[in-house]
Amino acid sequence: MGKDVIVACDFASAKETFDFLDRFQGKKPFVKIGMELFYAEGPAIVREIKARGHKIFLDLKLHDIPNTVKKAMAVLSRLDVDICNLHAGGTIRMMEAALEGLTRPDGTRPLLIAVTQLTSTDQESMENDLMIHAPIADVVMHYAENAKRAGLDGVVCSPLEAQKVHDRCGRDFLTVTPGVRFADGDVGDQKRVMTPVEAKKIGSDYIVVGRPITASADPVAAYERCVAEFVG
Ligand code: C5P
Repeated sequence: MGKDVIVACDFASAKETFDFLDRFQGKKPFVKIGMELFYAEGPAIVREIKARGHKIFLDLKLHDIPNTVKKAMAVLSRLDVDICNLHAGGTIRMMEAALEGLTRPDGTRPLLIAVTQLTSTDQESMENDLMIHAPIADVVMHYAENAKRAGLDGVVCSPLEAQKVHDRCGRDFLTVTPGVRFADGDVGDQKRVMTPVEAKKIGSDYIVVGRPITASADPVAAYERCVAEFVG
């Protein structure tokens, strides 16, 4: 796995998803399937996208007791996805159990990355709702270090945190970063954004890009621009 652009297929149905992917004609972008599409279409959508030759990041953010997460991860590993994820807030033990569940009998497994604090959580909601009183930047780094200790492969983080995560957890610890926008594009509801060029400079391993590609009048051209700017 090297640097790549992951296209967030935030669609509500298989039809919309395949209408979108059919436009790529022979190109096989790395695809992110999130909760909306997975809950609408089930494992069949994963199998079909995989059968068409795409790599898949299955973004289901598991968070439960270790035994339940372990068993759920075993099911996901049989779907042959390339990356899956969970919440680091589920504790180191839950992350270790997830890795066990994910590992196939032949020793192979999808990459496993952790969500630290969601970017929708801010200092105030973390303190008031979660009763966590440390600075949010420290919490994000602590959770990233926990993920590393548990043996995970990396974290989902803001592009602005990627460099610090690499400094703390090592260059090989993957940073997968959403919140990417073209310099001349709409920011939408993302608050802290970076261009693909900037994300490359600060060392993101994968960028997750949704609307700048899916809502573009020419999604294939937008995808190619992303690849040219990020992978180059
Ligand atoms: O359309 P856009 O490029 O904003 O999509 C970004 C994708 O990354 C969405 O699927 C969103 O749910 C996901 N994501 C995010 N911020 C996070 C974690 C995931 O935007 N912190």
